[in-house]
Amino acid sequence: MFYKYFVVLFLIGLSYGEPLYLNVTEYFRMPPLFELDNYEKCMASEDGMFCVVAVDVITEPDNDVTNIITKYSANRLKRFNHSNIERGICVTSSCRRQNIHNLTMEDLKIVLSECINKTIYNEYKVETKLSRINYCHNSKRRLDQDFDNGDQIFAIAVFIIVLLNIIGTWYDARLTRTNESKGNPHLLCFSIIKNWSKYITNEHKDPRFKSFQGLHAIKTILTFLIVMVHVLWLYPFTFVDNPRDLELNYDKLSYQMLFNGASLMQVYFMMSGCLLVHSLKISGEHHAETWTMFPLIIIYRLGRVLPAIMMILGFTTTWFRHLGNGPLWNYYVSPAVSDCRQYWWSHLLFVNILLPDTENRACILQSWHISAEIHLFTISLFIYLATRKRFRSLAFTIMFLIGLVGPALHVWFKDVEATLLIYPEFIRKLMSDEFRNVHSKPYNNMSAYVIGMCLGLYIYEAQRSNKKFNKSKLLSVLTLMVIPTTFLLFSSSGYYFFARNGQSPILGRMIYAAAHRPALALVYAFLVLSLVFDFNNFLSTLANWSAWRLPSRLTYMVYIVHITVIQYLLGSRTQLDHVAFMNIVMSVVGVSCISFLLALPLYLLLEAPFTNLVKTLAIGDHSLSSTKQDSKKE
Ligand SMILES: *[C@@H]1O[C@H](CO)[C@@H](O)[C@H](O)[C@H]1NC(C)=O
Ligand SMILES: *[C@@H]1O[C@H](CO)[C@@H](O)[C@H](O)[C@H]1NC(C)=O
Ligand SMILES: *[C@@H]1O[C@H](CO)[C@@H](O)[C@H](O)[C@H]1NC(C)=O
Ligand SMILES: *[C@@H]1O[C@H](CO)[C@@H](O)[C@H](O)[C@H]1NC(C)=O
Repeated sequence: MFYKYFVVLFLIGLSYGEPLYLNVTEYFRMPPLFELDNYEKCMASEDGMFCVVAVDVITEPDNDVTNIITKYSANRLKRFNHSNIERGICVTSSCRRQNIHNLTMEDLKIVLSECINKTIYNEYKVETKLSRINYCHNSKRRLDQDFDNGDQIFAIAVFIIVLLNIIGTWYDARLTRTNESKGNPHLLCFSIIKNWSKYITNEHKDPRFKSFQGLHAIKTILTFLIVMVHVLWLYPFTFVDNPRDLELNYDKLSYQMLFNGASLMQVYFMMSGCLLVHSLKISGEHHAETWTMFPLIIIYRLGRVLPAIMMILGFTTTWFRHLGNGPLWNYYVSPAVSDCRQYWWSHLLFVNILLPDTENRACILQSWHISAEIHLFTISLFIYLATRKRFRSLAFTIMFLIGLVGPALHVWFKDVEATLLIYPEFIRKLMSDEFRNVHSKPYNNMSAYVIGMCLGLYIYEAQRSNKKFNKSKLLSVLTLMVIPTTFLLFSSSGYYFFARNGQSPILGRMIYAAAHRPALALVYAFLVLSLVFDFNNFLSTLANWSAWRLPSRLTYMVYIVHITVIQYLLGSRTQLDHVAFMNIVMSVVGVSCISFLLALPLYLLLEAPFTNLVKTLAIGDHSLSSTKQDSKKE
């Protein structure tokens, strides 16, 4: 088992890693990473001007402080680069000088650079140079930007959708009263009454679909975990008053596990593959498997996925920028808005993951997963249909091998880390060698998907032949082991990567890059198998609890909106935040609650109606309906 490999890794890891210790006195000789002047006060003055800037410390060979900075920043996995500092500065009060308002941007840069250098030099004895003015706010200029055509178009779109829902609901209500036969199926898609009753009931009649009930629990819990790690990854890295605590957290096993948790998404790929093949097999009992299925299934899938993406893109490019204001609003929200305005098409065409990693950095970050999943879905469906008669195992083997070799080769050629690690400068710049190159490329995630497809085939065959797994103690215990194994995988590898100073050997990284996705997928494939066939009574009862269905159906919307919620909260900061365990817990709970609360109306008014509409338009009311996946991805 791979699992043994990780125990070995864990033991090797223990022998590395004496943390790069720097005593507190020395630490505070470095200029602080973030500082923020009082924004309100600055804006209140007659000619206030507030700029958010990035500043570089100039390294000098015989300067104590820059030596400390160089030494301390060397470990890029665990430390900020302390020679890049950021300031929100009230120019009018901190840099006394007449007439800054008449200056051009270039001259302003020179003035600011001098002034910041002087302030920092006086206190820390290091010279600095302004590298970038992010933006400046001026108290004379009215801050609310003009409304443009985009805002109006989005407003009209929202209005139409709400109107359709009102009409649909009204139509449905009237229809029930007059008790007519069937009604217009397209209009009925928009009935909130109907969508609500669909939301709370289990629509599947086939017990074989029902056996996947436990997946709702996995999806809900995973979505909560995703929200949690995203809060943890985005909150504490910028404009906080205690970055040192964050850096020290990198020496704690629990945080090492969380900062290494990005590969958890493999579980979704696995489940998606499994549900795809399983439902294809079942629909194959009623309809001949032909190539005409291909476009229909893809259209149905796009009908599920695209409305939500269009909504969030529309919102981000238009209304979002009007929602807030403050010293850091432009720091956190504007990049997302401008990137979305430029690259919205890449999300609709699912090619955002193929763009170079310097581009499109801030626009709906989370949609990499949706794009990768669509790619894998299409490829797998194609291969499934192409191998109806023969070569299926060969094709699956080749796909699996691509998934193994792809990441390993990436590590080999690009010399990147073995997995997506969350390190401070990655979050500050939203750019990492691993994210676009390895993590989000569809073929690198293929192994997990193929494992899921094999699982789907296996479950189908087992259900068809009515296979009974005898209640074995071993299987039951193994099921219980899934959770601890996950912890062990993530914490041991997290420890291995973070605890050592410097990169691990290339061979180890290549093996890890190839193996960790299928390993995780296998563990969870076993969990799915176990839930479908009730290996462990306790877990199955818990997971089959019907209430899981309700949050689970919202998970796609939650996945879509939660990053926007986080960006909004970050953007409304007016002073440096303080990173502490309890603060993060509060934020996680808050963001999850808000996201689920937003997701419910969005699901009822947008996702459910349009999914059904596309289905009735393209596929017709009944035919092929069993290919419909119960999966609410993400
Ligand atoms: C930290 O280092 C400085 C000089 O390198 C030394 O004077 C001081 O005693 C040290 N403080 C601690 C708490 O070790
Ligand atoms: C830190 O940033 C400076 C200036 O941008 C750069 O020259 C230096 O190489 C960086 N250090 C590390 C360890 O990345
Ligand atoms: C700055 O601009 C204002 C108005 O644009 C003008 O009245 C003033 O003379 C300018 N000051 C200087 C020093 O150019
Ligand atoms: C920074 O300020 C110090 C002290 O005022 C001065 O000696 C030095 O030349 C300045 N450096 C830069 C790059 O402006």
